Amino acid sequence: MKIAILGSGGREHAIAFSISQSKKVKKIYCIPGNAGTSEICENVFIDINKFEEIQKFLNKNNIDLVIVGPENPLVNGIVDYLEKSNIKTFGPNRNASRLEGSKIFTKNLCKKYNIPTANFGVFENIKDSKIFLENSQHPIVIKADNLAAGKGVYICENFKESCFAVEEIFNGKFGDAKNVLIEEFLQGEEMSYFVISDGKTIKNFGTAQDHKRVNEGDKGKNTGGMGAYSPSRLINKELDGKIIEKIIKPTLKGLQDQNIKYKGFLYAGLMIVNNEPYLIEYNVRMGDPECQTILPMLYTDLLEIIESTINEKLENIEIEWLGKKSLCVVLCSNGYPDHYEKNIEIKNLNKLNLDKNNYLFHAGTEKIDEKILAIGGRVLNFTSLSKDYGESRKNIHENLKKLNWNNGFYRKDIGHKVIDK
Ligand code: AMP
Ligand code: GLY
Repeated sequence: MKIAILGSGGREHAIAFSISQSKKVKKIYCIPGNAGTSEICENVFIDINKFEEIQKFLNKNNIDLVIVGPENPLVNGIVDYLEKSNIKTFGPNRNASRLEGSKIFTKNLCKKYNIPTANFGVFENIKDSKIFLENSQHPIVIKADNLAAGKGVYICENFKESCFAVEEIFNGKFGDAKNVLIEEFLQGEEMSYFVISDGKTIKNFGTAQDHKRVNEGDKGKNTGGMGAYSPSRLINKELDGKIIEKIIKPTLKGLQDQNIKYKGFLYAGLMIVNNEPYLIEYNVRMGDPECQTILPMLYTDLLEIIESTINEKLENIEIEWLGKKSLCVVLCSNGYPDHYEKNIEIKNLNKLNLDKNNYLFHAGTEKIDEKILAIGGRVLNFTSLSKDYGESRKNIHENLKKLNWNNGFYRKDIGHKVIDK
């Protein structure tokens, strides 16, 4: 089979790696990919938001199946677009992707189907928002109602901060957000929970905890994710049952009632409060870096799972895992998530110890004239599998020392809640 993967991050490199292990694969294209994917795929430089160009390339090259990594093309309807040309595409369609594209759509679904989530209100202008905030308890959470690439969420400690947030959002800081969502602050511990669905059957696809803040001790600015470990320390059978029964099933039922079939990965961002799950947000894709953390533990052929999802035969496949502990550390360019330099060479990649338990997934890298250059904020992902998280982290730190890239930094405390107790 000829496969195309859309995206250029660590998640897409991990997907490409897993797919490349399948016996059915003849060739993989990655659009646009990174230096890591260029080792196992042919990178094709098309903007993933230009659907027509992508479709022409796919038809011309007789691609059998497309896997969409990031949320933007999904929310903008790439699955609907490609399926019109009879191109098999893995991921939820435009309507199903509203779970991530519109926070208010998801919140209203929660309300209608009794899905546990923070209490909320929707406001259309600065004045009404401020009247509500003046009489509200703080901390309080304020969100722009559009895709804001992980930004657009404010945790406000007092009225002054919440006014500032509302003004920024309505003044266009995150593009065309027409509404704000004002939410009760939930105190608990976060967990990333994944399932795969073919519209009829749902199967578990692992749990993880990621570290979103840039500094050690989970402090500082929010990032795309500085590292993760899997499985989450919070998961247990009772909690798993509650998540499926109280959150996942009612969500899919809510979509079905609107004639929407959810096909693809579904990522629930949850707050766990005393072993009770609350939905914070949905993402219609795998997480990054959770994907790089989880996929190396997958034993079943990923391509078979994806094909059976597209063909609505997921019930016939058993998803098996290696049963190990996995940890992933992200190496970032100095200055990330703010300003950082680009086009800086990374040497020493050939010195790393990589094997069936130790993986390197590229993110913001590019290969030019045999040199690997850092071109993004999050640059490389180191994943290690072992019997405990501490050993995984130690293996990763040894590789990071060998790399010795002084233009970058990483958090040394990834997994601190399960290691440095
Ligand atoms: P989101 O983009 O909705 O995932 O929000 C980003 C981050 O803000 C989450 O990962 C949480 O850490 C935090 N957050 C969002 N909503 C809430 C809430 N209602 N209570 C507490 N923390 C929240
Ligand atoms: N790890 C957070 C995300 O993928 O959104």
